[in-house]
Amino acid sequence: MMSASMPAWTLTENASLKALNTFHVDAVAAQLLEVFEPSVLPEVLALPQVAGQPLLVLGSGSNVLIAGDVAGTVLVFGNRNIEILEHRADHTVVRAGAGVNWHGLVMWSLQQGLSGLENLALIPGTAGASPIQNIGAYGAQVGEFIQAVDAWDRVEQTWVRLDTEACRFGYRDSVFKHEPDRYLITSIELRLPLLHELRLGYAGIGEEMQAMGVELPVAADVANAVINIRRRKLPDPDVLGNAGSFFKNPVLPLEQVEVLLQHYPELPVFPADQDDRRKVSAAWMIETCGWKGYRDGDSGVAPSHALVLVNYGAASGEQLLALARRISASVLETFGVPIEPEPRLIGAQW
Ligand code: FAD
Ligand code: EPU
Repeated sequence: MMSASMPAWTLTENASLKALNTFHVDAVAAQLLEVFEPSVLPEVLALPQVAGQPLLVLGSGSNVLIAGDVAGTVLVFGNRNIEILEHRADHTVVRAGAGVNWHGLVMWSLQQGLSGLENLALIPGTAGASPIQNIGAYGAQVGEFIQAVDAWDRVEQTWVRLDTEACRFGYRDSVFKHEPDRYLITSIELRLPLLHELRLGYAGIGEEMQAMGVELPVAADVANAVINIRRRKLPDPDVLGNAGSFFKNPVLPLEQVEVLLQHYPELPVFPADQDDRRKVSAAWMIETCGWKGYRDGDSGVAPSHALVLVNYGAASGEQLLALARRISASVLETFGVPIEPEPRLIGAQW
């Protein structure tokens, strides 16, 4: 519940976005609209200062590259409630407001004795953004647990509830990615099992569990193992600006992968959604092209992970994008494989 003194929304002009994107790119939004009570959305969006202007919705900005100042309004959700909607013998249904911190939600669910989200520990960002690219890590994707997404549909000007099928989840993909800013997601509903088979197969989890001395793992142990691995591999955005993997792992036809493997037998290959396709490691190709640890001014490639572009301080969105283009051109030239950015580019086209 909102307290009586808390506003349902606030509007700030010329707002810095530096703390609102994990690359810490210094950009300004013409207006920043914070909505704490989503039911007011239709009336706030109809305000003369907001209506008819471009609108960009942001969570924690951990999957965006902002190239330049943002015209119009940046909308951020500040509703951070977690509610239990239903307790059943084998599962519990949980609703999380769009503004809930994702990792906080994972930890809360484990404390409640619920499982499912443990492999997704320590992913930055908000619950509201989690369905956009169907966040995934260590053998799990959030779409497996999402029962419904509640949103304001800006095209139909109505509240909508999308079930799992309507979300059309895929690898780093969903219906929301194809129509950016159409659906303003106000909350997600997760169906979390009380018990389920733990996913320990992803490279590194078993070894980490052994190092931790865990013999009979429970979901919380998996989360701790994932947290340890992630802390070693991925730079902390509070210390070194980044947006996680900058490129998606390309999904290629099996025949093309077989040819690649003849030339590069060490190329890591993973299963894909379709049987006749395989996901190949973009990090490996980028590292093989010599980019790991590269630095040009304040933009660079993380020394700990070739897929992560980093901002050492004052890199602009344009400079980071220029580096991304050089990397992708060299991967294309060496391997004949196009790689595409994972973060949303704001104010630029790929
Ligand atoms: P933002 O970056 O603010 O927004 C991302 C997109 O979602 C934008 O298009 C935005 O318009 C849209 N959006 C945000 N909120 C809403 C809303 N309420 N309604 C409608 N649209 C919305 N991702 C993974 O999948 N797996 C990982 O393992 C992973 N690891 C990461 C590690 C690091 C260090 C970092 C920095 C990022 C990582 N990411 C990973 C990427 C990122 O954490 C996720 O994509 C996350 O879901 C983004 O959440 P956000 O709130 O920061 O969204
Ligand atoms: N690798 C290299 N060089 C590197 C890093 C990795 O060759 O510098 C090789 C590893 O040896 C390994 C393979 O690449 O065989 C895969 O590496 P990793 O397990 O780190 O996974 P990834 O494919 O690079 C993906 C996701 C991550 C997610 C991890 C764990 C994408 C685009 N990225 O990374 O998600 O955390 O798997 O599941 O699918 C993100 O989306 O932002 C993100 C961090």
